[in-house]
Amino acid sequence: MIKTYRLPLVGTSWKMNKTNSEALVYLERLQQRLTGQSRVSVFVLPPFTALAEVQGFLRDSQSNIMLGSQNAHWDDAGAFTGEVSVPMLKEIGCEFVEINHQERRHWFGETDETANWKIRAALRHGLAPIICLGEENREAWPEVESFLRKQLARLLQDVDGAAATGVILAYEPRWAIGVAEAAPPSHVALVHAMLRQLLAEKYNAAVAKAVPILYGGSVNLQNASELMVLPEVDGLFVGRAALDADSFARLVEISGEAYVRRRFGGPV
Ligand code: PGA
Repeated sequence: MIKTYRLPLVGTSWKMNKTNSEALVYLERLQQRLTGQSRVSVFVLPPFTALAEVQGFLRDSQSNIMLGSQNAHWDDAGAFTGEVSVPMLKEIGCEFVEINHQERRHWFGETDETANWKIRAALRHGLAPIICLGEENREAWPEVESFLRKQLARLLQDVDGAAATGVILAYEPRWAIGVAEAAPPSHVALVHAMLRQLLAEKYNAAVAKAVPILYGGSVNLQNASELMVLPEVDGLFVGRAALDADSFARLVEISGEAYVRRRFGGPV
């Protein structure tokens, strides 16, 4: 059964950060800071080594924080040294798997094709793929549009409408990752509206509405609110600004407030 997430959906990938003991210190603090907050769906994507530890902590503390991994292999098992499969992640309690992050493409040769295999593996086992996509360089709008149109088509090749309602998109232009400033809100608004439109064209309006579209790339405490109030932004995907538990908790709070203002009015 495909799970729908209460929006906004705000999450973080720790990338290659935090040992298991550091992970526990972080989570205890985050959990403490988020107690009582139910407005925002929150997820964390620790490194593989910390997944079981984190899952145990979240279970024992009856936390609402959800768990996912930063990568997975496309096959269920086999001779793939150093890789981790979706069934392994599922058994640990992951419900998300991040796929196609720009760093995976840049450093590890991930392509649209291998990402597509991984997306289909995640869906086959009922995990929600968080599919990163985005242009590499700052370009004029027609180029951005044609790039994303092609990339989305390749990533979702052979994914039918029913399965597509189980995916999450994360618009992460490479030029806005790990830098000082996020992509400008006007650009993010255009891209998110276009992605929604592309989903409607490929599938239908119901699928387009069901798929959460997150923005990621240099999100921080200063820009979270202006990004979160954009009409088609369903959540935020955060790197550096979430490596500290207090900062991430504050980001979750800001996102929730901005989302409520957008939905129910009031000063933005
Ligand atoms: P950043 O990372 O927030 O540190 O830019 C974002 C990402 O890579 O998803």
